[in-house]
Amino acid sequence: MNTDRNTAVAVIGPGAIGTVIAAALYEAGHTPVLCGRTLREHLTLQDNDGLITVPGPVRTDPRQIDWDADLVFLAVKDTQTEAAAEWLSVLCRPRTIVCVLQNGVEQVERVGPHCPHAQVIPAVVWFPVQAQSDGLVRLRGDVRLTLPDMSASHLVVEALQGTRCSVDLSGDFLSQSWRKLLQNAAAGLMALTQRRSGMFSRSDIARLTLAYLRECLAVAHAEGAELGDEVPQAILDKFQASPSDMSTSILTDREAGRPLEWDIRNGVILRQGRAHGIPTPISDVIVPLLAAASDGPG
Ligand SMILES: NC(=O)c1ccc[n+]([C@@H]2O[C@H](COP(=O)([O-])OP(=O)(O)OC[C@H]3O[C@@H](n4cnc5c(N)ncnc54)[C@H](OP(=O)(O)O)[C@@H]3O)[C@@H](O)[C@H]2O)c1
Repeated sequence: MNTDRNTAVAVIGPGAIGTVIAAALYEAGHTPVLCGRTLREHLTLQDNDGLITVPGPVRTDPRQIDWDADLVFLAVKDTQTEAAAEWLSVLCRPRTIVCVLQNGVEQVERVGPHCPHAQVIPAVVWFPVQAQSDGLVRLRGDVRLTLPDMSASHLVVEALQGTRCSVDLSGDFLSQSWRKLLQNAAAGLMALTQRRSGMFSRSDIARLTLAYLRECLAVAHAEGAELGDEVPQAILDKFQASPSDMSTSILTDREAGRPLEWDIRNGVILRQGRAHGIPTPISDVIVPLLAAASDGPG
């Protein structure tokens, strides 16, 4: 495999995560085709050193694509995958690699049916970033992805080599993805309270978070994730050490009245718990509340 500049790369969903990846690809000499919903002439990423402009335009009509991709980054929210599926069907051919930049542990099962001839690889996205309403994306931290250590992942590694985005290949991707899932699950509490990470300094919320994370950890273990018993406390410590106004994408969606990724971030733990016969009394309360906050009615 090679990812010279002739490698045909597309980014579906040029929002917060998609813009960071598009900028990294552009820095490496690629000109990714940008497939979105909102027409923009270019994408703009702001980091500590200034602005990076990725030339567009953002294409908004899949019917105007007459081109096959070697590598596709899918960075729409999980709640938007179905609506974005036409992009996958026009871009993918047999052997196209689709790298899914979404939270959760079910990327292959959920995205695969929309591109049955492509090879879908999941990624753990470790960096937080947020898009403004004018499309500007501000980046302050390090950009890092973890992918499973399999041959298809090497195309992603090579495409992003030498860029701001480091890519780790993990021989135990399952554990890495469950580690991130637990972090996301706890952040779901912020969407329920509509509070930022300062809320974790409350002793009652800290106790609830730890109890919830221990419940999630039992399900992770049943799924085969190798995570130590210290993980719940480590996740809580991280929230407590964060700036008190730190947000999370599920809270941003709640504040904007958008559908929430509750099923891939919290619902999955309830579902897998039931499948393994593990009691999940806290999920039993949290998940319906998140689902109703997201999907209504009322
Ligand atoms: N943001 C983070 O810090 C972060 C961190 C780790 C993981 N993640 C995960 O990464 C994934 C992407 O999140 P994000 O925060 O980057 O979301 P986002 O900023 O909302 O970006 C989603 C992008 O997809 C576009 N889109 C929506 N429907 C589409 C369609 N039918 N066709 C093409 N494009 C479409 C949106 O267009 P519009 O501009 O029109 O809305 C937007 O540009 C999620 O699974 C999230 O959980 C996010």
